[in-house]
This record gives sequence, C-alpha cells and structure tokens, in this order.
Amino acid sequence: MPKLTVRELYAAPPTEPLHDVTVSGWVRSIRDSKNFAFIALSDGTRQQPLQVVAEPDKVANYKEAARQNVGAALTCAGTIIPTPDRKQPFEMQAASIVVEGASTMDYPLQKKGHSLEFLRGIAHLRPRSNTFGAVFRVRSLAAQRVHKFFHDRGFVYVHTPIITTADAEGAGEMFRVTVLDPDNPPRGADGKADLARDFFGKAAGLTVSGQLNVEAFCLALRDCYTFGPTFRAERSYTPRHAAEFWMIEPEIAFADLAADMDLAEAFVKDLVGAILEEAMPDLRFLNQMFDKGLVERLENAASSSFARVTYTEAIGILQKSGQAFEYPVSWGADLQTEHEKYLAETYFKRPVFVHDYPKGIKAFYMRVNDDGRTVAAADLLAPGIGELVGGSQREERMDALTARMLELGMPLEPYRWYLDLREYGSVPHAGFGLGFDRLIMFLTGMSNIRDVLPFPRTTGSAEF
Ligand code: 4AD
Ligand code: MG
Repeated sequence: MPKLTVRELYAAPPTEPLHDVTVSGWVRSIRDSKNFAFIALSDGTRQQPLQVVAEPDKVANYKEAARQNVGAALTCAGTIIPTPDRKQPFEMQAASIVVEGASTMDYPLQKKGHSLEFLRGIAHLRPRSNTFGAVFRVRSLAAQRVHKFFHDRGFVYVHTPIITTADAEGAGEMFRVTVLDPDNPPRGADGKADLARDFFGKAAGLTVSGQLNVEAFCLALRDCYTFGPTFRAERSYTPRHAAEFWMIEPEIAFADLAADMDLAEAFVKDLVGAILEEAMPDLRFLNQMFDKGLVERLENAASSSFARVTYTEAIGILQKSGQAFEYPVSWGADLQTEHEKYLAETYFKRPVFVHDYPKGIKAFYMRVNDDGRTVAAADLLAPGIGELVGGSQREERMDALTARMLELGMPLEPYRWYLDLREYGSVPHAGFGLGFDRLIMFLTGMSNIRDVLPFPRTTGSAEF
C-alpha cells in the first residue's frame, strides 16, 4: 500500500480512483451521521486536510473510529476518489482506520478560529493549526533557500561561535554565560566576583552577531556567510524584537557599500521570488486570513528595484512630510519605527535602503566616510517591518578603527585578534545582517515576531 502525504496527493491529483493508499495524520474535524463519518485529516504537509469518508459496513472498527475526538492521530487506508465538482479535488473512501493515538474532548485546538494570542499560549500545539502550519512551512523553505542562494554564488558557510568573549556590536546587550554561583561567587581582592575562576577564565556571553568572526574568514576565503541563532538582552517590548533570533550575515571581500547593497537586494528578491514560486497555497491562505496585501506586496518587492537614499535625504523627506511624528526628526537622531514605516510604506512604497548614517548612532566597526561625520552603513527598511537588514562597509584602516574604539571608550584587549585583521593584509570589505525572523514576518504577513518563531524567547518569556 503506498503511504502518501497530503502534499504528495496534491502534487499529482489523481484523475481516476487510486486504490490502496495510506495516509496518516491528525483529526481536524469529525462529523458522524448514521450512515457516514466525514473526517478532515491533516498531516501538516499541506494547507488542506484530506477528507476521509467512512461507512459502517466498509470499516470494521467504524464505531471506534467515528467516536474519535479532534486531535486524535489516525492512519487511514482506502481509495482516493477524484471529486472534481466538490470543494476538495479528491477524497478518501476508507477501507480501514487505525487509531494511533486518541485525543480528548478538551483538546485546545477546536475547529473554530482561535486568536493568535491564544495560540501563543499553546506553542506546542499551534503548529497543528492552519496558520502556523503555513508560517513554519514558509520558514523552512526560506531557510533552505538562504543556503542555496549563497552556495550558488560560491560563498563559504562559516559556523561562527555562539559563546563569545567579545561584544560584536559594542552595545552591551550580551547575555552572560557563567558557571559561578550567583549567590556566592569566588571573590577577588576588590570584593567583586572573580571571573578568572569562571569557566572561560573571563567574562563570556552569548553572541549578538557572528560578524567579527565572519570577517576573519572573509579575509581568507573571500565571500563567506554565517546563519545562526543570535541573542540580545535588550528589554524591547516591540512586536519586532526577540531575545533569541536568527540572523544571516554575509561578508564580501574587496567590496564597498554599493556592492553590499546590491547583494542584499539580490538576496531579498531571491528569497521572495522563491517563496512566491514554492509556497503559493500557504501564501494565499495567509493573504486571505491576515494580510490582504501580502501577495501583491511580495510580487512588488520581487520585481521593483529597491529605493536608495542617504540618511541626510531621508531626514529631509521626513521633515517635509507634514506628518505628526511622536519622535522628533533631526539630523543625528536615530530613525524610529514610525519614521521607517513612513519611508517604506508611504513615501517609497517599496523596500528602501537608507545609507550613510551619522557615525554617532552606528557601531564601532563601520567605515568612517571622508566627511568625518557619517559612516558607510546601510539599513534596508521594508514595508510592514521597518529595519530588515543592517549592513556596512567595515573600517579596514587600523588607525581609524582604533581611534574610533578609543573614542567610544571600548577596551581594545578583547578585540586584539580583530585588530590583527587590519595589521595583516587588510582590504576593503563589507557585509550585512538580515534578521531572518523579520524576513519571515515580511513573507507571511504576520505582524508579531512571536508568531514566526517556533518557540519565541522575548523579554519576560521563555516558555516551552
Ligand atoms: O542591525 P544589526 O544589529 O546588525 C548587526 O548585528 C551586524 N553585525 C550585521 C552585519 O553587518 N553583519 O542587526 C541586523 C539585523 C537587523 O536589521 C534586524 O533585522 C535583526 O538583525 N535584528 C533583530 N531581529 C529580531 N530581534 C532582535 N532583537 C533583533 N535585533 C536585530
Ligand atoms: Mg541595525
């Protein structure tokens, strides 16, 4: 008996009866009358469930099968019958039904629609809902495509460390990694916890970015990228910040900021195009349920060329907008979400790079421009998301980099090896970080990062 998934059935819908097919899954709904039971069986491989029709004289354990609750796991075998004039293109006429695992009346995921908030509270069961099935299938496809994109262009994939002793962004948002007893650490002469006796012999933390390590590989193997989990202990209660998120960070050698933006644009378009091609049934569902503009916005992003403006021009646009922003707009201040939204959604109506930011609001490793006030940085702002990508050309000049670090009061010691890269064969190079979870928000129309992470970790919450 061929064991098939619902996805396989939809990939080649039978035009005549297909005998002896076995499909396993979970009951989405069950309707039983005297002469029939209709079971919507979902196996998670496809948006649509398979309709299984059971009749008392054809299924030996009909009574047992027909009294199952929603959520029960079944293996159904029988004949797939084409039903071209019904809602679903085919159904199964069951010959046997094996109850793999029963469920109970209080199964939390009943057929009625549940709020996203309710579903967050049952993160272990929500992948069984239509919405989260769609979101996590899209997430998986996108992750596979990330590797394909870079592999096809000859990039080397580098596994950068999760535990690190250097703060890659210099923003002080690292989670600490320690084995010392918080109540009773060994103390040094100054009365402070003696980190020399901690596991790594010094302060360590979870990485906020793999960039510095990728730079080392880029200055050896040319174009490289890393794609992994990233951690930030910033107390942000926004729908776009998670404490644990995934980031893709390519780094290209002998390249400047313009090449970096070209790469980011090609990358985003490739991912959007791939999802439009491969995940249309899920996109259509999400479009209908959550975000009526989703497919159109993705098609627009895949085909239009992204806008590019300098930060200084962007400030001018915002100041002339006539909008009553909550946060004032002035040269030197960071762009707030409302400003990013105005630029991407209202003004440009497509993804837009803002580049050459004031150095005072950007990280230490960004290359200082000839004007002395701005750095070669570029953020990509996407409609509905805000900042999707943050990138820059790196400061490759030793004197300029150390001067900048000292100006910011950073200790040089943890970054010695990073400075070495400027000592031995330094070259212009650039890269960016794309927040994978924000990309999935963009691709699915979900408006909260908690709804694109399988088990989200955010300020105050690390359940499941
Ligand atoms: O702009 P960020 O902080 O840049 C870096 O980390 C650089 N080291 C990247 C590089 O040049 N290699 O972060 C990059 C992106 C942001 O644009 C955003 O999409 C995402 O990472 N991001 C977050 N996503 C979810 N939750 C958070 N707390 C995030 N912080 C940043
Ligand atoms: Mg940023």
